[in-house]
Amino acid sequence: MGEPGWASERHRTAIARSCLSVPARQAFIDGQLYPDRKILDFGCGRGDDVRALKRLDCQITGWDPHFQPHAQKCPADVVLMTYVLNVIEDPAERRETLRTAWALARTVLIVSARLTWERSKVHGDRAADGVLTSRGTFQHLFATHELRQLVEDVTGSRCVAAAPGIIYAFRDEAARLSYLAKRIAPQLTWAVSHEADGAIKALVEYVESRGRAPRLEEAPRPIAEIIAQLNPSAMRKLLRETARQELVDASARRSTLDTLLFLALELFNGRGPFASLPLSVQLDIRAFFSSYREACNRADRLLLKLRDDSYVRGAMSASRAGKLTPTALYVHKRSLDMMPTVLRLYEHCAAIAAGRPEQWTLVKLKHDGRAASWLHYPDFDSDPHPRICSDYQVDLRSLKTSHRSYEGSTNRPLLHRKHEFLAPDDPHAARYRRLTDAEVRAGLYAKPHLIGTEAGWEAELARCGWHLKGHRLVKRRPDQASG
Ligand SMILES: C[S@@+](CC[C@H](N)C(=O)[O-])C[C@H]1O[C@@H](n2cnc3c(N)ncnc32)[C@H](O)[C@@H]1O
Repeated sequence: MGEPGWASERHRTAIARSCLSVPARQAFIDGQLYPDRKILDFGCGRGDDVRALKRLDCQITGWDPHFQPHAQKCPADVVLMTYVLNVIEDPAERRETLRTAWALARTVLIVSARLTWERSKVHGDRAADGVLTSRGTFQHLFATHELRQLVEDVTGSRCVAAAPGIIYAFRDEAARLSYLAKRIAPQLTWAVSHEADGAIKALVEYVESRGRAPRLEEAPRPIAEIIAQLNPSAMRKLLRETARQELVDASARRSTLDTLLFLALELFNGRGPFASLPLSVQLDIRAFFSSYREACNRADRLLLKLRDDSYVRGAMSASRAGKLTPTALYVHKRSLDMMPTVLRLYEHCAAIAAGRPEQWTLVKLKHDGRAASWLHYPDFDSDPHPRICSDYQVDLRSLKTSHRSYEGSTNRPLLHRKHEFLAPDDPHAARYRRLTDAEVRAGLYAKPHLIGTEAGWEAELARCGWHLKGHRLVKRRPDQASG
């Protein structure tokens, strides 16, 4: 497609913000924006993200062809390009703009764009490959895979979807790998102490939760300074005697699986050299495997297992958490880590390709074909039968996504047997199971085809003479209206 031969009022798309934009917030949460890094907001609009990030001690400058045309476009560690591509009418200019932003990014370029699922919010006439609104602004709404593909094509880098419509293109391999590692196993937090006793306690806690002793460089400075003074053999003896061995063993098993998961995911996203792995992962490999090669071979086998239907089905049947239906396994966010590693890999691969939405409650992993959905039930814990709010799905073969919002729907699907989505030792599982048992005894599940949506469920409750008080099933009094 060539020049559209007309121009839109691009600057009018820039809105005033009272808080960080969704992409800047995501990048901040993901640890990409911190005080030591120089940040450039490319196409900063009115500059509200720049001001908000300055308040968070970030070194940030903004440039915009309309609002800040004279500001400098200097290379920066992080370049943010927030909702710029979607306002550009000409596809060739989109690519050129992306190329310019990439040339300025030393570590990571963070690109976000508005998505096709917002179509109902953008009114106007079709123009070129988008919509021209009555205010004279243009919007090309991107499909998630289209945005990722465009960023990959132009930058030639391995991209990660941080969330739907937010793509990280890393120039620095170490930064990409450290980001992937954090997605799998968030870094352990140290109880910081300036006293020797406190430092030793923190060290023991680290060993118990990682399954191995840390290297000095892994500890925060005050603790590292104290540990460095200690006699190494006396410290090893102290750790042997103090750390609870059963916790160390359990953590070693978990760290081994997390490392395999990381390496398999890395293969999915493009494997880099050992030296570019984050230090903690290098040390895990040394502690829990005979060699990097052995770890990679096992990780490769894990990724192969993900393609094996009968293996995946077996893993779903054996999962300690989740509800298995004839087509998929559904698992609550809180219980995700209780799934077998191959299923955690399944979910991570989908998340890297399409981005996990900001809000979700259950993940659904299909076993016939490979597709993951993140389903949002905002009142999962307070509502005995939570109602769905949104469903975001990615097909792992085509990487195509679809999104469905149930906001404003009058007869939403709802959940029954809530405890089945959780691991058995979840703190709420017992209470939810008691409600399910009561509902079964009351005959409320006798006609499953009637109770899947709000109206059908309410009608069935009324017909059987019950209503719900929190998570308790209570007999309806004759004077209580039905329906
Ligand atoms: C929807 S606004 C987003 C502004 C800001 N990033 C935000 O999220 O608040 C789009 C911005 O892109 C800017 N813009 C348009 N064409 C551009 C280009 N070729 N390069 C950089 N920015 C551009 C516009 O001036 C406008 O401020």
